[in-house]
Amino acid sequence: MRRRTPATSAGAGLGGVRNFYLTGFFCTLGEVFLYNAPALNRAETPFICFRWVLWVDHRRAFGVPVQATGSCKTWVRGDGMNSKLAEFVNSRRGETPFLVVDLDQIGSNYLRLKRLMPAAEVFYAVKANPAAPVLDRLQALGSSFDAASLTEVEMCLTAGAPAKRISFGNTIKKQAHIARAHELGVDLYAFDSLGELKKLAQAAPGARVYCRIALDNIGADWPLSRKFGCSLRMAADLMQEAGERGLTPLGISFHVGSQQCDPQQWDVAIAKTAMVFSDLRARGIELLMINMGGGFPVRYRKPIPAIEAIAAGIHGALTRHFGNDLPDTIIEPGRAIVGDAGVLAAEVVLISEKDYGAAERWVYLDVGKFGGLAETQGEAIQYTFRTPRDGGANGRVVIAGPTCDGADILYETSGYEMPKALETGDQVQIMAAGAYTTTYASIGFNGFAPLKEYYI
Ligand SMILES: Cc1ncc(COP(=O)(O)O)c(C=O)c1O
Repeated sequence: MRRRTPATSAGAGLGGVRNFYLTGFFCTLGEVFLYNAPALNRAETPFICFRWVLWVDHRRAFGVPVQATGSCKTWVRGDGMNSKLAEFVNSRRGETPFLVVDLDQIGSNYLRLKRLMPAAEVFYAVKANPAAPVLDRLQALGSSFDAASLTEVEMCLTAGAPAKRISFGNTIKKQAHIARAHELGVDLYAFDSLGELKKLAQAAPGARVYCRIALDNIGADWPLSRKFGCSLRMAADLMQEAGERGLTPLGISFHVGSQQCDPQQWDVAIAKTAMVFSDLRARGIELLMINMGGGFPVRYRKPIPAIEAIAAGIHGALTRHFGNDLPDTIIEPGRAIVGDAGVLAAEVVLISEKDYGAAERWVYLDVGKFGGLAETQGEAIQYTFRTPRDGGANGRVVIAGPTCDGADILYETSGYEMPKALETGDQVQIMAAGAYTTTYASIGFNGFAPLKEYYI
């Protein structure tokens, strides 16, 4: 039975947007304050608050006794470090590298998305961080799950998620895995090709399916283009064929590319999706659902658009392209749920120069591309680093990992600087590292153990 959502109901949550713009506004100015502290007026209470919290957290992180933490730590939102994480990192000096993740932050990230997009069902993209405590927390909050493999399906079930709240969202699946997932009760599957559709029809008869359309992923720091999706006309044909093969043609999915920094891209994607809907309507097939994937960005080194603005843009695009006849909507955030909840603690193993008086120092950490920082490939995801020497003079650095592999360089061309006073043995904190790190770590390349992980 089709459930129609009036345009106005999706907008109900936009009542909160004004507040969020306000928060974003202050955070932005807060960051300005951070970098231009002397120029700003001390009478601006939120900025003073912001500075104070950073100061407290920074001191905690580096072992300076702190009397009180105060109640203003929300002003560090987006920075990726709160006093809970700072205390933990500080208490485990000498144990690096490890990732520590704040489960409460994950909860509030999830609830924020729910609040901003109340009409959308959130399917957490398990691949971003599949740790059991993460899944348990999200399951307790009522999240649904986007699984990339049978193993991830099983992890979600172990966390207590009902099979009906799991989507098998990879467009590339073994037929045996589809069959097993179907046996376990999973009823929602992605595909983008005739080959996959045939497997689904055989191994999951009657299941609800959605076809992924291809997007160019412009604006995304970690694009997922070319490998996934098909053309609009092929999507329409395949959805028609899905029905003819005994499946339930439910809807269309897209992914605008991970760490998408251009809100306009959702509008483009929703417009394309609407074209497939009308093509199929003309053939007598009424689709019911849009899966808008992930892509919601996390604050790393560059400024990002506020999630609030993206959510408002999505709502505007849905009403513009679908009018009052809004389909059900799904989002599959991964990075935006776990990214800023994690801090990766590392240590400086070596600082060297390649010649006397070289313009740049090489800073080698005890974690690199093969220890979990795979998204530094092409210097695509640019993490921010904190060191105990921050605040003094900086100098240009190349940042690299500890293995004997020439590819294990994190940043060489992106203009990173670190304090000139930095020393071997100093702890370095890699901020907002909760997404796409632990599971990317190799199982023992060069003898380095997989990344340790803690959930607090
Ligand atoms: C199908 C699908 N959904 C959701 C996601 C999560 O994307 P993000 O982490 O950008 O939110 C991904 C990431 O690869 C994906 O492949």
